Amino acid sequence: MTTPTQLFTEISSQGELKITLDEVKMPTPKPHEVVVEIQAAPINPSDMWPMFGPADLREASLSGNTLSAPVHKGMLPRIKSRLDQKLPIGNEGAGIVVAAGEDPKAQALIGKMVAVLSGATYAKYCCVPIQAVMLHNEGTTALQAASSFVNPLTALSMVETMRQEGHKALVHTAAASSLGIMLNKICMAEGIELVNIVRKQEQVEILESLGAKYICNSSSDSFKKDLYLAIEETGATLAFDAIGGGELVSDILTAMEMVGSKDATGFNTYGSADNKQVYIYGGLDFSPTTLNRAYGMTWSIGGWLLMRFLGKLDIKQVLAMHKRVADEIDSTFKLDFSAELTLAEVLEPKNIAAYNAKKTGEKYYVNPSK
Ligand SMILES: NC(=O)c1ccc[n+]([C@@H]2O[C@H](COP(=O)([O-])OP(=O)(O)OC[C@H]3O[C@@H](n4cnc5c(N)ncnc54)[C@H](OP(=O)(O)O)[C@@H]3O)[C@@H](O)[C@H]2O)c1
Repeated sequence: MTTPTQLFTEISSQGELKITLDEVKMPTPKPHEVVVEIQAAPINPSDMWPMFGPADLREASLSGNTLSAPVHKGMLPRIKSRLDQKLPIGNEGAGIVVAAGEDPKAQALIGKMVAVLSGATYAKYCCVPIQAVMLHNEGTTALQAASSFVNPLTALSMVETMRQEGHKALVHTAAASSLGIMLNKICMAEGIELVNIVRKQEQVEILESLGAKYICNSSSDSFKKDLYLAIEETGATLAFDAIGGGELVSDILTAMEMVGSKDATGFNTYGSADNKQVYIYGGLDFSPTTLNRAYGMTWSIGGWLLMRFLGKLDIKQVLAMHKRVADEIDSTFKLDFSAELTLAEVLEPKNIAAYNAKKTGEKYYVNPSK
């Protein structure tokens, strides 16, 4: 077989990150597996930690097909399970099935456009079990299908979490993200009130142009008042926070509590009885989460991860989500990428600085077949 290329990451116990572009043989699929020739694989925020870990990218250097960067020794105990192992990268991607195992369900996928969730998509060929495949409709391109799992399923699962946990509206932060745009479209289609928190005026404008009703700009002097009013109108008691660091989680809970207690009379020692829940589902800001605990005693903050949530759903529900994503890939789940990179270009420090900035409207993808 040919010698496709693939990106790998390794952090040594001496404190050095190396990302290499290697030649690997085309995998041979097991009976229930397919091999996908990847044509487009997004570089999402959730790819950064597997790729770079806590390496100091300001010190990164490229030599041939190897990117190196130091990792502070004090960080190594936090990542000891991955030390000295060469690991594949790339959470998701899309392309054509070019080989399949003997299982008829695998064989039926040959020649089809699919998206995959694998952890090894920054590679020309990606071998996955058929359960990790989302079949796309005829006519869908790899670029359209590239972002089928991470953000679309998370946005759908946020709404599902809201329903399961008995909330009626949502608050979302970093809300002009690719995911935030999908979530707005889902909420509008399903009549769910969504309070969007952004940090810049241009992000307000992006969401306004989509038709979003509640947009609060955390840079505005009236932010806390705006947030209170939006939560009062929507009755939101559940928030998904992509940022993590700083006081925003606390501000959201404070606003929810102020709304919940606004009609309280007499002693209100323990605050409102409705549960106020914030899930921190991203780490856009690694600084500490500061809690000012002025929100009574009925609140929770938790972590939230797509794969663990999907694992609790009935398989029929997951497959229904797959079908919706495939059917609405060019509307609800449409993502306009800003730039294409080859596997080699992923390693260039100037490109790393650009995609690692995770800026609004700047989503890169890798084309390993280029
Ligand atoms: N837990 C899970 O299972 C799961 C699944 C999917 C996605 N996620 C998370 O979802 C988030 C969004 O992903 P995406 O692919 O949609 O992102 P994206 O399109 O790359 O957009 C990132 C957004 O975050 C904003 N941002 C970056 N740093 C920020 C900060 N420190 N404070 C406030 N805003 C900041 C950016 O705004 P600026 O232009 O102003 O920087 C931009 O609007 C990520 O945190 C990702 O890790 C989690």
